[in-house]
Amino acid sequence: MTERVVIVGGTSGIGLAAAVRLAASGREVVVTGRTPERLERAVKEIGERGSGAVADARDPEAMCDLFAGLGRVDHVVINVSGRKGAGPFRSLSPDELRRALDDKLVAQVVAAQAALPVLRRDGSLTFVAAASANSAMAEVAGLAAVNGAIQSMIPGLAVELAPVRVNAVSPGVIDTEWWDWLGDDRQGALDAFASATTVGRVGTPADVANAIAYLIETGYATGTVLTVDGGVRLKPRLA
Ligand SMILES: NC(=O)c1ccc[n+]([C@@H]2O[C@H](COP(=O)([O-])OP(=O)(O)OC[C@H]3O[C@@H](n4cnc5c(N)ncnc54)[C@H](OP(=O)(O)O)[C@@H]3O)[C@@H](O)[C@H]2O)c1
Repeated sequence: MTERVVIVGGTSGIGLAAAVRLAASGREVVVTGRTPERLERAVKEIGERGSGAVADARDPEAMCDLFAGLGRVDHVVINVSGRKGAGPFRSLSPDELRRALDDKLVAQVVAAQAALPVLRRDGSLTFVAAASANSAMAEVAGLAAVNGAIQSMIPGLAVELAPVRVNAVSPGVIDTEWWDWLGDDRQGALDAFASATTVGRVGTPADVANAIAYLIETGYATGTVLTVDGGVRLKPRLA
């Protein structure tokens, strides 16, 4: 039977690349997002195995309706996040931190809970965290807290929800729309990040999509947080 994958937050960047990768390997792929125009564009790009639904992952009722309407699902990739949490610790306001937690940690938990009733007994959940969780970098404490919370859930959830497999990918800097808020400084920032890696470049959405596909396709992988960061965590030791 053709496998069905849902990508929560799959209309651009890493989520869309994962959708394209998983559809190319013969799966039916359902992507979600909040913006109808982006959703329509994404479904077109995925091709005949793609479909989509507009739903805000922070809304438990919307997520439960979405999954209940789909019926059986084999794998779920939970990719959503907002843009909050970066910047100097001294000026990280409680409101900004709460928003960052709501937009990513809470949204990802809500999506995973809504998926469970229809997820195949030995299917998989793959969360998308971020390598900021473990990086010794200034001005990422808020992001690190949010992504560290997601990563720290993985081993315990893999035990609690077994035989469902539970994993996460932890990307370094990936060239997606996420960075557009930098405006004219975008390219300079990405170049600086590239020089901080051992591979000499920032990541592509396809790099992370391959890691997501590996976790979905490897029936022996569970409780794993897979880092895909171009070696950025190694560089300070080499300098
Ligand atoms: N890019 C990087 O350098 C990087 C590094 C580490 C980790 N990550 C993580 O990778 C994941 C994907 O990021 P990306 O760079 O691919 O970003 P992106 O291009 O902005 O993609 C985010 C996707 O999630 C959707 N989305 C956001 N909030 C949503 C919500 N509440 N409900 C439903 N859909 C929602 C977006 O569509 P709508 O806005 O239309 O809803 C879009 O489809 C995120 O978790 C991000 O934190 C990215």
